[in-house]
Amino acid sequence: MHCTRKLADDLYWIGGNDKSFQYFEGVHPIPEGISYNSYLMLDEKTVLFDTCDWKIGQQFLENLDYVLNGRTLDYVVVDHMEPDHAATLGEVLLRHPDAIVVGTAKAHQFMEQYGFRVTHSLVVKEGDKLNFGRHTVAFYTAPMVHWPEVMVAFDETDGILFSADAFGSFRALDGAIFNDEVNYERDWEEANRRYYTNIVGKFGKQVMAVLKKASKLDIRMICPLHGVVWRSDIDWLLDKYTKWATYTPEGKGILIAYGSMYGHTENAAHILAGKLYERGLTDITLRDTTETHVSYLISDAFRCSAVVLLSVTYNMNIFPPMQNFLDDMKRLNLQNRKIWLAQNGTWAPNSGKLMSEMVGCMNGMEIMNEEPLTMKSSVTEENEEELNRIADQIAAALAE
Ligand code: FEO
Repeated sequence: MHCTRKLADDLYWIGGNDKSFQYFEGVHPIPEGISYNSYLMLDEKTVLFDTCDWKIGQQFLENLDYVLNGRTLDYVVVDHMEPDHAATLGEVLLRHPDAIVVGTAKAHQFMEQYGFRVTHSLVVKEGDKLNFGRHTVAFYTAPMVHWPEVMVAFDETDGILFSADAFGSFRALDGAIFNDEVNYERDWEEANRRYYTNIVGKFGKQVMAVLKKASKLDIRMICPLHGVVWRSDIDWLLDKYTKWATYTPEGKGILIAYGSMYGHTENAAHILAGKLYERGLTDITLRDTTETHVSYLISDAFRCSAVVLLSVTYNMNIFPPMQNFLDDMKRLNLQNRKIWLAQNGTWAPNSGKLMSEMVGCMNGMEIMNEEPLTMKSSVTEENEEELNRIADQIAAALAE
């Protein structure tokens, strides 16, 4: 049975949701699922904006047939060739062999690489426009948001931006489609942040380039390839993306992330958190790096302005889950945070020095305690004094 939503007089969401898929891109847990969005415009010409992953292929193809209602498909706009959006392109073209496939030159190259037989190709460049009847759609390139071939399509007639992965989110739609149908702050914000930071967080400069283009458009609706369609609070959303893309903390949050083997380093993390609450700070997130998937740690680190990293020494190195977190921070280009470090090692603590070297290689990171707090097994009274000093420093830094 078809499962679609009408977005405007002649525009439909015809995507699908997957709540059983466990790891997006084979890496990121999605316990609340994900949506694959596809949009169909019924103008004098029929225009499909992106296809879907095969995971929901049957539903998508049924939706496409239902909304077309016997019409042929005239155009397929391919904003993004990643298989979570383009995997079913081949099947769509088998069913609609006369459809003209619109995309950047790089997208057409990728179509070949993925083995799609495209008979009618139309390569578009920055600013090119197509008229489909009532609607005129302009195309703007968005390289590396999040692959090099990406473009966004802007329906100038109705002010609708088909934004590819930009403004997307983890989480299945569960019947909702618009941002004002969900409790975004309660149910979506964290999923949105974790999607952005882990999928396109690395490409802040490129995201800013797209936001600059978007600022010149009269956008009334944003249709991303995952998550809700935005038809209100668009300025607020653009502001949030500007913060993420410029690696600006969202507030005065504190992330305490620890890697502990026998509970002593964890003990120090809890003591520090308590001392911060005693100083009146309340936006504190305490994470065990072993228990917490790194995608959540990254999301926390993008949100918070102060980050405390506590790691045991493991084989003379950083504790592996903490090492993984630091590697991802570097890979995803996180910048401009205040960092405090603490190490533990019963006979030769070494993780503090190594963490300091890693953080020192990241742009704009400020290590606030050059000499890391050092534990040699259990937390001592001297360590507690140092935790007091760190708590004072954090409170002072966040008061600035
Ligand atoms: Fe949702 Fe970059 O694909």
